[in-house]
Amino acid sequence: MSHRTAPGPKDHLGLTNIFRWASDQLGLLTKLKAQYGDVVQMSVVGSPWVLVSHPHDIETALVKNAKIMGRDQYITILQRTLGHGLLTSDGELWRRQRKLMSVAFTPKKIHGYAETMVRVGADALAPWRDGMEINVHAEMSRLTMEVVAEVLFGTGVTKADVETVSHAMEVINDYYANSPEAVVMLPEWVPTPRHLRMRRAVESIDAVLFRIIAARRASGEVKADLLGTLLAAQDDEGAGMTDRQLRDEAVTLFLAGHETTALALAHTLYLLSKYPDVARRVRAELAETVGDRRPGADDVKRLVYTGWVLKESMRLYPPAWTTGREATEDLELGGYHIPKGAQLLFSQWVVHRDPRWFPNPEAFDPERWRDEASLPRYAYFPFGGGPRTCIGNHFAMMEATLLLALVVQRYRVDLLPGERLMLRPSVTLRQKGPGLRARIFAHEPVERAAQTPAVSAA
Ligand code: HEM
Repeated sequence: MSHRTAPGPKDHLGLTNIFRWASDQLGLLTKLKAQYGDVVQMSVVGSPWVLVSHPHDIETALVKNAKIMGRDQYITILQRTLGHGLLTSDGELWRRQRKLMSVAFTPKKIHGYAETMVRVGADALAPWRDGMEINVHAEMSRLTMEVVAEVLFGTGVTKADVETVSHAMEVINDYYANSPEAVVMLPEWVPTPRHLRMRRAVESIDAVLFRIIAARRASGEVKADLLGTLLAAQDDEGAGMTDRQLRDEAVTLFLAGHETTALALAHTLYLLSKYPDVARRVRAELAETVGDRRPGADDVKRLVYTGWVLKESMRLYPPAWTTGREATEDLELGGYHIPKGAQLLFSQWVVHRDPRWFPNPEAFDPERWRDEASLPRYAYFPFGGGPRTCIGNHFAMMEATLLLALVVQRYRVDLLPGERLMLRPSVTLRQKGPGLRARIFAHEPVERAAQTPAVSAA
């Protein structure tokens, strides 16, 4: 095993750099990689952090060394709201839960959720009117929140419940995005106003979830929604999940499942507004494949170009812009010694913009996905990788494609003049401020549009 330590900034990344990190995380990671290479080791307030940016090394860590990869330190902060759900558990508990949860994410189950996704999506878009101004981020967040609520709980959830949970999720998102408390890992018992707000939000979610779980258990009814599947799931010893575990998994699915997909959609609509030719091609493909009827699960694999557009959008703006692990043993990456306890950082933002894998990386070019075979595995990893890869990957792609299809079938979304994407990464790659504003224009019906020249979105 190599004894060489990876290069990196010699000075300790102390408080000054944490503030720099907080104000420009994307820029700092990009610079570290440009200056020091594919493996960069630094010391952040005393503990070793390693940025790993070569696809081969990422695969070595996430897949080949999966057994010695624990969750990174940030897990304890996420546990404040998510408890010990799939995203925030480790070891035996994680293994058991991953197995139990996977029954709710089989291809057949996901196929089955598609109808709900489209029905809820269409209802959620019903208030849209020609010429209306929308907040793209807020609208996509509303759509994916309603979808995940209905897929999880079916008809067991009321509009008021969705509102309570949405509001609480906003408070929780804000806690992770904007609070110094989370950045410097201030203990949760310190009664700052943000901590108290976050606690109240968690309590309001818990009240809704425990009520739904109790009602379902009392009725004894087995439903086909995700909660029904999780309630029925049993481990090898025939044991099911406790109410607490179900609560933790449901909150995890809410949080992990709605914000990421909403961002993927918001970024895609942003790009379609900037690139009207691409938008026209997406619409043409939809017109040819789906026409005016509602899209369904079987359409998704036929919407090839639309799939490339989503992939390219998540390349440029990966909703999860870093994935982390803690090395629980010493290991070697890229010829360097990585010490036990190191916080490993794999940044989708950095790797997806590496010109070695993506020539002219800043360009939005869905065509580059025509020939994907030559790409090294882990040059593109929006859903992470290895045994802990996103369990909702196929769910998300199904949902994003169907919701995008519903929007593009009916509307052109034009950003308002002067609107710019201003990224402010927190756990996810969010927009700074209130979200992009756009105006929506209803298309003419497909048959007539085919006979008239396409409308410019400029
Ligand atoms: C575009 C949308 C999405 C993106 C970009 C995304 C990305 C990710 C990433 C990067 C991870 C960490 C993987 C790793 O550490 O290797 C993850 C984990 C996870 N995601 Fe997603 N995700 C998305 C949608 C969803 C959806 C729709 C759900 C559920 C309905 C979901 C549920 C989860 C869960 C439960 C985990 C933890 C898995 C584990 O640790 O075993 N995600 N996701």
